[in-house]
Amino acid sequence: MLRNTDSRFGQVAILLHWSIAFIVIAEFGVGLYMTGLEYYHPLYNILPHYHESVGVVLAVLIVVRLFWSAWNIRPAPGAGVGQWEQLASFVVKTLMSTIVIGVIVFGFLLSTAEGDPLKVFDWFELPALVLRGSQEDLSVFWHYWLAWTVIALASLHTLGALKHHLIDHDETLRRMLGLGPRPENE
Ligand code: HEM
Repeated sequence: MLRNTDSRFGQVAILLHWSIAFIVIAEFGVGLYMTGLEYYHPLYNILPHYHESVGVVLAVLIVVRLFWSAWNIRPAPGAGVGQWEQLASFVVKTLMSTIVIGVIVFGFLLSTAEGDPLKVFDWFELPALVLRGSQEDLSVFWHYWLAWTVIALASLHTLGALKHHLIDHDETLRRMLGLGPRPENE
């Protein structure tokens, strides 16, 4: 089933969730790796191009996910999920989603700080946005620290999902994996 129901996520929501999660983690790893490369390394110019292009694809996926969520019902929390857990999970998810957008915006401001357009693969170019002289330094700072904040929040989010699965033995993680109800003896 493509769309969400009142108790399960549909395939589109599941695909968007895991693609966004995978891309954010991959972007983080590639970002850290590429800034440590020396000038003559064969990937020195290639990786930033992919990092930036994939970042733009990520932005599109996030927008699609926003529309998809607005257009679908949200499955109710599984039985036994307490109110404080729902609140904590809501706060972490909202912060994470907002801050990811900040990472992308500062990444864009960083890439175009010198006035060059951003080439998205070989598909199209986004025009530069140059706002102020210190744009590059400020954007490097915020891009880096907001990216770490997203990873810290994603770790909390993962720990929460694992707690549901391994300690509470409930459906929370299973339904984001597209699995059916937990068998009685699990
Ligand atoms: C969630 C998505 C992203 C994550 C997690 C991420 C993460 C990172 C990290 C950790 C670094 C290394 C920073 C450092 O060591 O100084 C980096 C560098 C960089 N990122 Fe991203 N990034 C993302 C998206 C983007 C996007 C969308 C763009 C541009 C459109 C971008 C442009 C850059 C550039 C140009 C650098 C090199 C910075 C430098 O030269 O110091 N990033 N990114």
